Amino acid sequence: MTDANASKRAAAFAAADLVPDGATIGFGTGSTFAFVLERFAQRMQQGFRVRGVATSVQTAEHAKRLGIPVLALDEIDGLDLAIDGADEVDPKKCLIKGGGGAHLRERLVAVAARELIVIVDESKLVPELGRKFLLPVEVVPFGWTHTARRVAATGCAPTQRMRDGKAVVTDNGNYVLDCKYPGIPDPAGLQRVLDGVPGVVDHGLFVGMAGRVVVADAGGGVRVIG
Ligand code: A5P
Repeated sequence: MTDANASKRAAAFAAADLVPDGATIGFGTGSTFAFVLERFAQRMQQGFRVRGVATSVQTAEHAKRLGIPVLALDEIDGLDLAIDGADEVDPKKCLIKGGGGAHLRERLVAVAARELIVIVDESKLVPELGRKFLLPVEVVPFGWTHTARRVAATGCAPTQRMRDGKAVVTDNGNYVLDCKYPGIPDPAGLQRVLDGVPGVVDHGLFVGMAGRVVVADAGGGVRVIG
């Protein structure tokens, strides 16, 4: 296992161990969150009970393979917790998410939870969002090139996300624009602007949403930013 994966696992296992027996959880998406499911599966062998709402088809399938019950968001009134990864975390715990294109469902699940616990390896802590990582923006396919021009006018260079020569389509049937900003010094301000762009369904800026942030360093040490 690489150092990065060992850190992801350390953060994920620490967060999974914060979950009380019988809880209903928001299941995030991505390589870090996948380790949470592995830890749940281990704990279940000792009688631990957990169930959750998945933020992607990929996570739902992984959970089901491990025998972890998956519910639809509409089957429940709320979630005890949500646990999810992030691509960048700034000093105010603002996040960039959506590297895996699941940010719309991740937001819907996170707001249904009492707390969003974020799990990251130390490399994801940044002084300012967006200097390195491209901001994912989910747009409806209809007229998407027009939407891309409106998004560009917010100060970025957007590129349509492609895989194997084809446009990536999210679980919601939309496209993703990966947007290069010179930096995002005012995430709340940019969020307000992007929320008002016609054709934008959602974006990866999560402002004021993170609760505890569980951070693992390269040596496997874990700390929690409250
Ligand atoms: C999925 O759309 C994302 O928001 C992920 O949570 C984020 O990209 C972190 O992914 P990794 O854990 O794979 O780095």
